[in-house]
Amino acid sequence: MPRPAPANLDESLLAEQVGRFYDKVRADPLLGPVFNPLVDDWDAHKVLMTSFWATVALGSGHYRGNPLAKHQPLPIGAEHFQRWLALWRETAHAALDADSAALLIGYAERIGYGMRVGMGLTTHQRGRESGIPVRARQAQNAPARLA
Ligand code: HEM
Repeated sequence: MPRPAPANLDESLLAEQVGRFYDKVRADPLLGPVFNPLVDDWDAHKVLMTSFWATVALGSGHYRGNPLAKHQPLPIGAEHFQRWLALWRETAHAALDADSAALLIGYAERIGYGMRVGMGLTTHQRGRESGIPVRARQAQNAPARLA
């Protein structure tokens, strides 16, 4: 269930956030090379992503998809998620009021963390796979979490 969104947060503000964000993503030296070969039509991608965020934050979008399955084959690591979230936060603080920015940043952090777990990109998962006890691995790498 979506959390109550600030009263002024609507689809046009989400479209503004999404539009500014992907303009930065396209030009970013780390993220651009992942996105640009896959996204032919940026306007269509922005429409899809606005619908995704309207579904997540407002309960009003019509997004039906499986983001984890879309990301699993991508050549990306934790550093891509870190950069993605840094650009998302920077954009939200510039494009939105403080409450709306906090809401969207919180969602992105939780969704991003869930994706990283699903993709085996967290310290916890790597600790398991490497056979090193999770606690020891976390102590070794502390701070363990990115988001
Ligand atoms: C919290 C973090 C993220 C969220 C919420 C998110 C969300 C999404 C969603 C909802 C889609 C549309 C999937 C569909 O077509 O149904 C998508 C597509 C895509 N995402 Fe992400 N994403 C995140 C992080 C990343 C990162 C870190 C990268 C890579 C650097 C990335 C690269 C892509 C690409 C390339 C596509 C297009 C895939 C395609 O059309 O084949 N995303 N993302």
